[in-house]
Amino acid sequence: MVARSSVTIVLAAGEGTRMRSSLPKVLHPVAGNTLLAHVLAAAARGKGAALAVVVGPDHQSVIDEVRRVRPDAATFVQRERKGTAHAVLAARDAIAKGADDLLIVFGDTPLLTAATFERLRGALQDGAALAVLGFRAADPTGYGRLLVEGDQLVAIREQADATEQERKVTLCNAGMMAFAGKSALQILDRIGNANSKNEYYLTDAVAIVRELGLRATVIETGEDEVRGINTKAQLAEAEAVMQAKLRQAALDAGVTIAAPETVFLAADTTFGRDVTIEPFVVIGPGVSIADGAVIHSFSHVVQAEIGKNASVGPYARIRPGTTLGEGVRIGNFVETKAAFLGAGAKANHLAYIGDAHVGEKANIGAGTIMCNYDGFDKHKTEVGAGAFVGSNSSLVAPVKIGAGAYIGSGSVITREVPGDALAVERSDQAIKPGWAKRFRDMKLLNRKPKS
Ligand code: UD1
Ligand code: CA
Repeated sequence: MVARSSVTIVLAAGEGTRMRSSLPKVLHPVAGNTLLAHVLAAAARGKGAALAVVVGPDHQSVIDEVRRVRPDAATFVQRERKGTAHAVLAARDAIAKGADDLLIVFGDTPLLTAATFERLRGALQDGAALAVLGFRAADPTGYGRLLVEGDQLVAIREQADATEQERKVTLCNAGMMAFAGKSALQILDRIGNANSKNEYYLTDAVAIVRELGLRATVIETGEDEVRGINTKAQLAEAEAVMQAKLRQAALDAGVTIAAPETVFLAADTTFGRDVTIEPFVVIGPGVSIADGAVIHSFSHVVQAEIGKNASVGPYARIRPGTTLGEGVRIGNFVETKAAFLGAGAKANHLAYIGDAHVGEKANIGAGTIMCNYDGFDKHKTEVGAGAFVGSNSSLVAPVKIGAGAYIGSGSVITREVPGDALAVERSDQAIKPGWAKRFRDMKLLNRKPKS
């Protein structure tokens, strides 16, 4: 098979007013990533695969998101909203480069899979000038209807322009299509706006393909995959579909999850062998969990590497930039952020470990707080290998504790502690023999009988 070059155009100029949000629609999150990032991830890949995103005016935040997830993608602004074909042509420069396949997809359909992109491209390879993704809609209202004769697609009729008879058709336009590159611009340039909305409809491409004596065809998929997001309710439905897929994939990969419906994963979560995730765990983006690790109930983990056989929670909060080495134990009510914990290190209860490097086998006692913030800047704490930080200590950063050192409980450590030293920072314990009894006796003697 000859490798075909491709360009995928993502239409993301939508206003998204029904989301009732100041955030552009395509920047809303599903499974820890934006709608747009999901679509960009599914887009055609490999050598000779270019990407272009069409955004609305004043959507710098959408452009920033494109830069973040696919720095190689070109962005184009559609200044006026004049229809889907008009939006595609905003990316004319990307199309004119002459890739073999031109794929068009909406930015609000996060459940599309890479396999579907490949199926559409396959239809082009088989000689179609245009392949349209279709689905059987439970309720077709509002969708463009696919009018088919034999194995050929003859037209797409928008709801507003459809006859009574055509509205009964349940095979609908999902919105995604693929054009053979060599005829794409010729077809797109012929699309006019003579319809009830005076918009340039991308869907009119089908009739034009026929006029040119070329072939248009339908590739069918399930309704779940083509769900478009217009409302917060639909965003939640897409989340549910995505989570169901992610949980199933994790189970298939051998992760033990006793109550899958209570566990939330991100699209990029990776697992080693024999990982266990207990009920009610939330895993955000950028998390890898190595062999044998256990995430106990009610833990929240984001952008972190969990090492082999590590144990997290219950009730742990693992924040971005955390790396837990092999066998690390993070117990209940422990929060970590930008923290490295070497193999075998432990923080079993009630601690804040932020901007920290903790050496192997160090022990962070209950109630230890790394005071990393002075109101202006963040500072680093280093705890050497095998050090023992007694309970309820405050480590005021920047500060270093040498390997093997001991910190007496309740100390406020502000200066470097040498290796193997003991640092105690608290007043000496005073003992006053018999004081408590004398105190009680005095109180009882002076007490007036209650009237
Ligand atoms: C479109 C299709 C319809 C299909 C449906 C699937 C057309 C004419 N109709 O209808 O056949 O069944 O999607 O969901 O294509 N956009 C722009 N600029 C514009 C107009 C639209 O970028 O000027 C983008 C929107 O942001 C959106 C997408 O194109 O991502 C679809 O536009 P929308 O107005 O939602 O089209 P529908 O009426 O839903
Ligand atoms: Ca739509």
